[in-house]
Amino acid sequence: GLWCVVPAGGAGTRLWPLSRESYPKFLLDLTGSGRTLIQSTWDRLLPLAGSSQLMVVTGGAHVDPVMGQLPDLEEANVFAEPSPKESMAAIGLAAAVLKRRDPDAVLGSFAADHIISGRDAFESAVTEAVAVAKAGYLVTIGIAPSHPSTGFGYIKLGESLHQPDAPNARKVTEFKEKPDARTASAYLSTGNYRWNGGMFVVKAAVLMDLLKGTVPALHDGLEKIADAWDTPARQSVLHEIWPTLDKIAIDHAVAEPAARSGKVAVVPATFGWDDVGDFSSLADLLPAEKGEARILGDPNMVITEGQAGGLVIPAGGRPIACLGVDDVVVVDTQHVLLVTTRARAQDVKKMVARVKARK
Ligand code: GDD
Ligand code: MG
Repeated sequence: GLWCVVPAGGAGTRLWPLSRESYPKFLLDLTGSGRTLIQSTWDRLLPLAGSSQLMVVTGGAHVDPVMGQLPDLEEANVFAEPSPKESMAAIGLAAAVLKRRDPDAVLGSFAADHIISGRDAFESAVTEAVAVAKAGYLVTIGIAPSHPSTGFGYIKLGESLHQPDAPNARKVTEFKEKPDARTASAYLSTGNYRWNGGMFVVKAAVLMDLLKGTVPALHDGLEKIADAWDTPARQSVLHEIWPTLDKIAIDHAVAEPAARSGKVAVVPATFGWDDVGDFSSLADLLPAEKGEARILGDPNMVITEGQAGGLVIPAGGRPIACLGVDDVVVVDTQHVLLVTTRARAQDVKKMVARVKARK
């Protein structure tokens, strides 16, 4: 059956100060559901893989909170990285180890920090993706784009694969990671592109073969680590080789080049998907009282009058009052108070850089 890997890295900088390097986005409940993003990811994958086939790759500092939040995650399925090396090293490590445990294994990689609605539609898309992966493709899930975002990968839809157990699957004729604004607009106007949903379903051995052809040094390093993984030499080999690995996203390392040689497929999604990149998109996900701010947290801690379109997050332990300020974002934490507007939500990461520079 399917093995799932959840790469959990990145600091979610645009959601600072709620999300921090020491306590990133995937550890937070951003919907008020009572489950954090990585817990919801786990809940969603469990029916597809079963808990003994769910893996997490995360930074050494996040292993304890991740295991605390996911009590059924098995220790053998936790991969601790010595340092962040981006998504290719994280997913590739899981693939290289898995390939040794099960040569025919199909691996699904699912981001730790997305919000997805429509459980049945999600499961049927992944089931189709698994069927296509068995035929040797690197399979993506395509999200219908709503605006010309420059923060996503873009997938150009090709012809149907005509695979009976995956009737919606299509070939991908181009994969372009994070195009510039002009290119994104041009793609959108053709109606023939989907956003890459950040999910990849592929045979572990196929992924490693693709990587061997595109970034051989990274492939070789990961294979050496995997050779030592289930031996007493694991830690010494890991700490020797990991710092030398290329820092590259799976999208650039494998998806873009593999699409050029016709090895990428896509299953268009019919479920709801959001990557909650910034406070403005977070606000859109929360219920709104007419003409008042949206609130993440305890509504008793917030008093507003005339704050249409805004977002208030009272996570600092004290009440927040807002009067007559539209589209304002107020995020209070024990460390920092952030006040900004929804229009500038994308720029919050610039402030993080400035705060870091001050230290
Ligand atoms: N363990 C680990 N270590 N995980 C990492 C690391 C790392 O160093 N870097 C990134 N990740 C994880 C993230 O936590 C996330 O689950 C996944 O890998 C993707 O990384 P992001 O940094 O969130 O990528 P992105 O959002 O810029 O772009 C990707 O996702 C988009 C959809 O949200 C790409 O796949 C795009 O094509 C896609 O559209
Ligand atoms: Mg992301």
